[in-house]
Amino acid sequence: MISIKTEREIELLKIAGEIVGDTHKYLIPYLKPGITTKKIDTMARDYIISRGATPSCYHYDGYPANICISINEEVVHGIASNRKLKDGDIITLDICACYKGYHGDSAWSYAVGNVSEEKKYLLEHTEKALYKGLEVIKEGTHVGDIGYAVETYALEHNLGVVKELVGHGVGNELHEDPEVPNYGRKNTGPVLKSGMVIAVEPMLNLGTADVYLLDDDWTVVTADGEPSAHFEHTVLITKEGYTILTKR
Ligand code: MF3
Ligand code: CO
Repeated sequence: MISIKTEREIELLKIAGEIVGDTHKYLIPYLKPGITTKKIDTMARDYIISRGATPSCYHYDGYPANICISINEEVVHGIASNRKLKDGDIITLDICACYKGYHGDSAWSYAVGNVSEEKKYLLEHTEKALYKGLEVIKEGTHVGDIGYAVETYALEHNLGVVKELVGHGVGNELHEDPEVPNYGRKNTGPVLKSGMVIAVEPMLNLGTADVYLLDDDWTVVTADGEPSAHFEHTVLITKEGYTILTKR
């Protein structure tokens, strides 16, 4: 069942989304060589709490950190540690916050120092793929239209589309219906209505689309070790289109 949010729920989802967007903005200046991912995770937690919210990822299904931090070939759900960022890394911060019971969810990949032309290409086109997916959204859009738009753009740019992980509805649970795959066919899947809230989140790889799970049971990495990028916004569906709730 895909829930239609009430006015009050939309107000809370807007605040949760704003806190997530602001957490990204707050952390960006610190994404420099030498900082540990643990430090970034702690700063994210403290900032989210300072805004009257809680990090939704913490203890979600037993997840041991506050936000997900994934570097280079790590696709999603990397766990903060004493690892230090290095010049040339790309780092994805997947930040979820819960405000008065309602969630916001946004992932964004960033360059650390000077990155290769290939990594710049991956970042540029994964971000564009997110907007290609968002652009088709309005009341009446099928979920398959979003996946079709993302996948078509990714394949045109020779990027691997991760299929094992998908976008989702967002509300008083972090993951709600519908699933929002980054692949699909036009006019298939659930129909979106105004008042629904979903997270669209392409994960694209420079090489193969294949991924596997590390022994820590959380971190998903590319099968060929090539880098991966991830861009995600939580959006409210409207009659005319959509509103980004996780603006930065
Ligand atoms: N934004 C992540 C997702 O949609 C949230 C993961 S929380 C975690 O998958 F605890 F599973 F890491
Ligand atoms: Co998500």
